[in-house]
Amino acid sequence: MNRELLGIDVGGSSVKLARVAVDTGQVLGRLQSVPTPVPSDPQRVLQVALEHPLAAATAGPVGLAFPAVVKDGRARTAANVDPSWVGFDAPAWFAERCGRSCAFLNDADAAGLAEMRFGAGRGVRGVVFVLTLGTGIGSAPFVDGHLLPNSELGHMAVAGLGEVEAEAYASARTRTALGLDWAAWVARLDRVLAEVQRLFWPDLFILGGAVSERFAEWGPLLRCPVEVRAAALGASAGAIGAAIAAHERYNP
Ligand code: BGC
Repeated sequence: MNRELLGIDVGGSSVKLARVAVDTGQVLGRLQSVPTPVPSDPQRVLQVALEHPLAAATAGPVGLAFPAVVKDGRARTAANVDPSWVGFDAPAWFAERCGRSCAFLNDADAAGLAEMRFGAGRGVRGVVFVLTLGTGIGSAPFVDGHLLPNSELGHMAVAGLGEVEAEAYASARTRTALGLDWAAWVARLDRVLAEVQRLFWPDLFILGGAVSERFAEWGPLLRCPVEVRAAALGASAGAIGAAIAAHERYNP
């Protein structure tokens, strides 16, 4: 059985690929990144992934993380991605193109799986919310290490903000777009965390996305009463989690 699997994490600006040792969560070699093709329709994006040297350097099932609801092997939404992904069956595409199985899942769910297995949530029981702060806000809730998939809390309404969704209010992209300093952005993030707390009463938040690498600068400004940790696996989390999902689905 193959224990070094290809994990692919599709994002709005880059497609990340990694060869992952699924027993340890280690990225073998380096995380690779290629620009997301424009337009970013499924065929173009997956062709780029398939032509990458890492695809030939790995065998067996592939994990594919994608920033949308993914149910029964198909993307169901497209909040910040090309709408042509809605309804796309990635496992069928991989089977037809290269005869490889594909575990297709939401990007935050993938990052969450990786963090819970090998990162900041390793060994943690109880209710844990992994949130990814990037272009959007991704969410992955866990109970005693078990994932509730496709939770989409980035699209949650936040009390007192009317129609504005959590991710439009407090994503990392919003921080950059509005030129918010850490304090102003953290105040927004605190409102989102407070809303999750009011509804789910988690024991721990794990915050990921590129901005988590600067957690030392803004983490201490949080007023959230729940324990908050920075994600530990950085930009590799989605690809690692995708490979874990492929392993669990196809290498029982
Ligand atoms: C999407 C989610 C995704 C998140 C992070 C949101 O806009 O709806 O599916 O997990 O962005 O990429």
